[in-house]
Amino acid sequence: MMANDTPLMEARGVSKYFGRVIALEDISMDVKAGQVTCLLGDNGAGKSTLIKIFSGVHQPTKGAMALDGEEVRFDSPRDAIDRGIATVFQDLAMIPLMGISRNFFIGREPTTGVGPFKRFDVKKADRITREELDKIGITLRDTTQPVSTLSGGERQSVAIARAVYFGAKILILDEPTSALGVKQSAMVLRYINRTRQQGIGVVFITHSVHHAYVIGDRYTVLSHGHSLGSYEKGEVSMAELEKLMAGGKELEKLEDELQGSGATNGASNEAARSEGSTSETVG
Ligand SMILES: Nc1ncnc2c1ncn2[C@@H]1O[C@H](COP(=O)(O)OP(=O)(O)OP(=O)(O)O)[C@@H](O)[C@H]1O
Ligand SMILES: [Mg+2]
Repeated sequence: MMANDTPLMEARGVSKYFGRVIALEDISMDVKAGQVTCLLGDNGAGKSTLIKIFSGVHQPTKGAMALDGEEVRFDSPRDAIDRGIATVFQDLAMIPLMGISRNFFIGREPTTGVGPFKRFDVKKADRITREELDKIGITLRDTTQPVSTLSGGERQSVAIARAVYFGAKILILDEPTSALGVKQSAMVLRYINRTRQQGIGVVFITHSVHHAYVIGDRYTVLSHGHSLGSYEKGEVSMAELEKLMAGGKELEKLEDELQGSGATNGASNEAARSEGSTSETVG
């Protein structure tokens, strides 16, 4: 962990416009070493756009990014990777039918031999893959086993292990648990915890307030490209987060609509009663 309190990475008043679409407006957010910062929000809130700015896929229209307190500009994903920012996108960039160790080293293959005799060092790749996965509790029978034979949770874990192995300081995970059941989500969350303990700053995007609450140290909630605020764990209850996430207003509107359509529940009785009182006043 870093001795001082300077965030590893900051978004400083970041806006992103796509033509007339305002995907993000004036977003500020910190990522700290050894902490999990959760990025929450509804579909289209701007979460993926923000982490694409973090990972050099997009450049901000306004505002800036900073690393260790100093402003930086990433002109490409390579720039961000070179600065220690690893992003696991939802599709994972793995090749399902290729072996696990091959996937682990994709784009960074260790080689043996020189010049025309240079070739993929299978032994080394297999040994490292086996060791790294062992560390996270996945024991492989066969490293050439296709990635498609792993479960969704294992696949996410392999992608995270790979980022950590290649020296990420910041690990960004875009909805790693969204397609997973309870057990597999728990496996990924446990692994995120271990990553945090190594001092890495984790950005965890999720729709699940439960997952965020279990693993998160801090939360930033986005809605329609705007920030609804950033909170430390002790500062906000799960119920409050849930309400922010659900977009309090949206639910109130829905409740009104359902009352109007005469749904038969407690809420509509409530409506009926107030209608009754109105007619009394009139009569
Ligand atoms: N390349 C683009 N061109 C135009 N509009 C875009 C582009 N990328 C994103 N947007 C728009 O920006 C807004 C935010 O999208 P974004 O993908 O960041 O949302 P999200 O919070 O990740 O949603 P989800 O939870 O569904 O993944 C959306 O209205 C989207 O249509
Ligand atoms: Mg998204």
